[in-house]
Amino acid sequence: MYDILGRNIDYIRLSLTDRCDLRCQYCMSENQNFLPRTEILSFEEIINLVKFLIQNGVKYLRLTGGEPLVRKDVLKLIQSLGLFLKNGELQEITITTNGTMLSHYAKDLALAGIRRINVSLDTLDAQKYKKITRGGDIAKVFAGIDEAIKQNIHVKINCVVLKQDNFDDLPKIIEYAHSIGADISLIETMPMDEKILGREEQYVPMNIVRQMIENKWQIIRDEYKTNGPSQYYRIMETGGRIGFITPLSHNLCASCNRVRITCTGKLYMCLGHDDYYDLRPALLNNNFNELYKIYSDALNHKPKAHDFLIGGGYVPKRPMSLTGG
Ligand code: GTP
Ligand code: 5AD
Ligand code: SF4
Repeated sequence: MYDILGRNIDYIRLSLTDRCDLRCQYCMSENQNFLPRTEILSFEEIINLVKFLIQNGVKYLRLTGGEPLVRKDVLKLIQSLGLFLKNGELQEITITTNGTMLSHYAKDLALAGIRRINVSLDTLDAQKYKKITRGGDIAKVFAGIDEAIKQNIHVKINCVVLKQDNFDDLPKIIEYAHSIGADISLIETMPMDEKILGREEQYVPMNIVRQMIENKWQIIRDEYKTNGPSQYYRIMETGGRIGFITPLSHNLCASCNRVRITCTGKLYMCLGHDDYYDLRPALLNNNFNELYKIYSDALNHKPKAHDFLIGGGYVPKRPMSLTGG
């Protein structure tokens, strides 16, 4: 289905939970409040929702969180969703995960049809990881990434660039990603939820990052394209792919093909705005006509672009963890 500006919305980012076993400093506050379980969509509602979305042109699904793999019995849900891949109704289901539970799930995810996974990892250093994630154990993430690769799941590392915490270490992180055959995306930190402080001091515009990389390596544009906002390049010396996600310095909203749905059934038309439409009441009644009315109205109100700015602009009130990026 097309939005008001003629953008074809065929990609849904579906959050399975707002909960997470980590507390990344740029994503959540230390004492984040979580949604009551009664508000969370049941598996049946999620499957019906995905059926509806497929009927309305959605081909790509990304499961996000919080951390999607902390949802109870998540494998059962992913196995059910995987049937839409097997019958050709969906072209791809991908997952964005922090990787802490991947070693446990990778084999079954591969069997369910997951071919690509994005793992958040901002440092290679155990102490720094513990600090950035407020307590995470990096060994679990390395083990998870290894297992995913062993199961032939293509891994992309997501690395949020942080002036104080990882800027100087970026070359090492890139080398690590490429040494294991993974892609890597470097991401500008986005301001969401005013209560989360310190992002201004950590923000580095991507042109500075690129300059640093180009001083070290030769990079050439790569035509590889996913549904996401990364612009990909290849580093000649490592042979690996690197993507740049530049929401602040250079937005790609004109070609945006996606909307987000939270684990409570709220559809956010843009990551950078707080307007949403609630799908849950229609979903509860299994009323696809009503769902269609709400969904098409929502697409008619998808903003032209986000208004993110560092040190100004609109800061969405919700945390990143509610829509999983
Ligand atoms: P693929 O390219 O399909 O691998 O996925 P992706 O990189 O788009 O998805 P992922 O969930 O790994 O997100 C990576 C980063 O891109 C996160 O910081 C997301 O918040 C950000 N991102 C994804 N979609 C959008 C978008 O529409 N707008 C903005 N501003 N950021 C986005
Ligand atoms: N800015 C940019 N990226 C973020 N992520 C979480 N919070 C932010 C933020 N404020 C990233 C995570 C994960 C993806 C879903 O979004 O690191 O890789
Ligand atoms: Fe959890 Fe991902 Fe947010 Fe980190 S960025 S706290 S891993 S949801």
